[in-house]
Formats: sequence, C-alpha cells, structure tokens
Amino acid sequence: MNTNGVTLHFSTGSSWSAAGALYVSPSLLKLYVQTEDGSRSGSTVVPRPIAFVSTESATGERNLAPFSFFNVVSNSPPILSISVLWDGANAKDTLHNIIGTKEFMMNLISEPFVEAANATAVGAPPDFDEWKIAGLTPEPSVSTCARHTRYEYDILMCCNCICDVWVSVKPARVKESAASFECELLSSQDIFPDDSQTPSATLVLGRIKHAYVRKAVLHDDEPVVDATNFQAVARMGGRIYARVGNLYELVMPDWREAV
Ligand SMILES: Cc1cc2nc3c(=O)[nH]c(=O)nc-3n(C[C@H](O)[C@H](O)[C@H](O)COP(=O)(O)O)c2cc1C
Repeated sequence: MNTNGVTLHFSTGSSWSAAGALYVSPSLLKLYVQTEDGSRSGSTVVPRPIAFVSTESATGERNLAPFSFFNVVSNSPPILSISVLWDGANAKDTLHNIIGTKEFMMNLISEPFVEAANATAVGAPPDFDEWKIAGLTPEPSVSTCARHTRYEYDILMCCNCICDVWVSVKPARVKESAASFECELLSSQDIFPDDSQTPSATLVLGRIKHAYVRKAVLHDDEPVVDATNFQAVARMGGRIYARVGNLYELVMPDWREAV
C-alpha cells in the first residue's frame, strides 16, 4: 500500500482469526488488563507511556514515583491523567500529596534513566525521599512565558499565562527528563470495586500550566519532538518494557477522498 509516497506493509490480522478468540472470564480480566508482578507481558492495553510524577507533601516532603496508567485527556485545555492504585486501604504517597497540595510535576521517562525511575517504585514510607535513590537531579520548577529562556530548557508551551506573570509549582522537575509538565489538580475520581467501600484506584486529572521540553529532542529545532531522540520507554505490563523504534507514517484518510 502506498500513501502519500510512504510504503506501508501491514497484516490484516487474518492469520490470527483462524485461532478464534479466547473468552476471558471476569475473574481473569485483571490479568489481561494489567499484569502487575508477572515476569511476562500479559497485558492487552499496551504500550503505555510512563509518567514520572514529582510531588510534595503539605509539609514539604518530596516524592517521586513512576505511573504507567498515564495518558493525554485533552489538548485544549491541555490535560493529563494518571490512575493511582491503592495499596489495600492506603492511598499511595503520590495521591496524598496531589490531593493535599493540588499540584504536581509530570516528567516523561526516557531510556537513559529508566532504571533510575524504576528504583523509585519502592514502597517507601511517606517521609522517604525517592530522589535520593534515583540519583536524578531535582530542578526547581520556575516557569515564565515563551519569551523568556533563562534555563537550559526552552518553554515551548505557555498555557494560560500572561506574559510577565511567573507561575510555578512546588515539586521539582526531573532535569534529565526530555519533557516535564507543571500540573494543577483539575479533579480526582475514586474508583470502587463492586464489593467494597474502599477505593481500589483514583483517577487524577491534571491541567498543564507550563511545559518544559529539552531542546535536544526537537526535530531540527522546530517545535516538534523527534520520537527517536526522545527515546521514550513503554511499559508492556509486569516487568516488560519496550523501546520506541521502527517508526512509520500512516495518513488519516479524508472522507471525501476515500469514497
Ligand atoms: C513502570 C512502572 C509503572 C507504574 N505504574 C503505576 C500506575 O500507573 N499506578 C500505580 O498506582 N502504581 C504504578 N506503579 C507502582 C508505583 O510506582 C509504586 O507503587 C510507588 O511505590 C508509588 O509511590 P508512592 O507511594 O511514593 O506514591 C508503577 C511502577 C512502575 C515501575
């Protein structure tokens, strides 16, 4: 198939259909949605991007943890989501901090520091500062508008701010990240299992106030990220991760041209 000069090779999936579909019983659904501890990737909703969420408690304790139940919800206004699972009856520190302070910093994880990010997933007590084991650099999140470029990073997106108004959130950003987003809590929604009054997860929506994008990941200095330079990592479920590579183009069809 040739679309706008790009040759595409794809499978119609016909080799799969011969085997039929496996009925997944409700008791096994969790496994297929997301394997948590298994060494193999059993998940179906993959690949998932990974957010590295930096927060502070109301009393100033820093926290850093990876979250792969993470995605974009809207681009206008720009909104990101994470889902924080509960540890039994206990909310994770990240959730406590977000609800308590209403602000957080979402950093993107790239391959060069994926192991450092993984190290921060330890179930540490609330007063433990995961930055210490990550060995990564906390950079104060001081933002200004697109006209100011005092920092190593250029601020490419400057949402909802008036030129000379400085906006920042307290949690530090990860200096090594290719991109970081200052977020304000927009809303949170507890999710309850059928048989319990204790939430099993909380969906958090964060409105991006400012973004930092590392110049080195841009495509020829245009305000477009080059996916190869970005070296994003994806979580496939359990302990399995994937690198981003082997990219190809696919043009979205126009209805008028398709008929
Ligand atoms: C790559 C990766 C992705 C993760 N994604 C999530 C997630 O989406 N939701 C979640 O609740 N926990 C997730 N975890 C587990 C948390 O990072 C872990 O529970 C961490 O200790 C939470 O830290 P906190 O208690 O300081 O907030 C993930 C762990 C890893 C290594």
